[in-house]
Amino acid sequence: MNARLPSHRLGVLVSGRGSNLQALIDAIADGRLAASIAVVISNVAGAGGLDRAQQAGLETLVVDHRGWPSRDEYDRALVDELRAREVDLVCLAGFMRRIGPAFIDAFPRAIVNIHPSLLPSFPGLHAQQQALAYGVRVSGVTVHLVTAELDAGPIIVQRAVPVLEGDTEATLTARILVEEHQAYPEAVRLLLDGRWTVDGRRFVARP
Ligand code: GRF
Repeated sequence: MNARLPSHRLGVLVSGRGSNLQALIDAIADGRLAASIAVVISNVAGAGGLDRAQQAGLETLVVDHRGWPSRDEYDRALVDELRAREVDLVCLAGFMRRIGPAFIDAFPRAIVNIHPSLLPSFPGLHAQQQALAYGVRVSGVTVHLVTAELDAGPIIVQRAVPVLEGDTEATLTARILVEEHQAYPEAVRLLLDGRWTVDGRRFVARP
């Protein structure tokens, strides 16, 4: 008898090392996440995430962001690749390009991002450094739905991480990353579960 294929098809977008991609791969492999990864796309050739995907036997694709007449056209190229593979949830995992309406409207409430701070504090780049510079005692990780506003969509999962005396950007980043790898599969599982709604800007999971 054939193994039943999981019906949820993820598309994962990366630009770098891909440790959050790996967390999703591992969660699928050990049965915590009932999904499959249909494709891993990077805007950067040579991104570590592509190696991880290939190691796991996943299809990979490089769609370079350079050379497109507009962001819309780049976004549409990404959407075409994802649709061609019947992706139903797009996971941004360290994808260092802002996506615009052409992308967001193509996957309504079906794009998720992970950010290394407790949003709405410290959106944008270098979130861990921002947290250190501000002097907060607690930071963390946020997994959220992607909307047109940067790092501001409905929050699915957050995990707090203490900022310790003597932390550097590197030590805080490493401590947050451990929680990221738990939070991302957990949030994706909640989303795929389907028992949720969005009320205003609140993500509400139904029991
Ligand atoms: C993570 O810190 C994630 O929160 C942020 O970019 C980083 C990506 O790391 N969006 P990795 O490529 O998943 O290892």
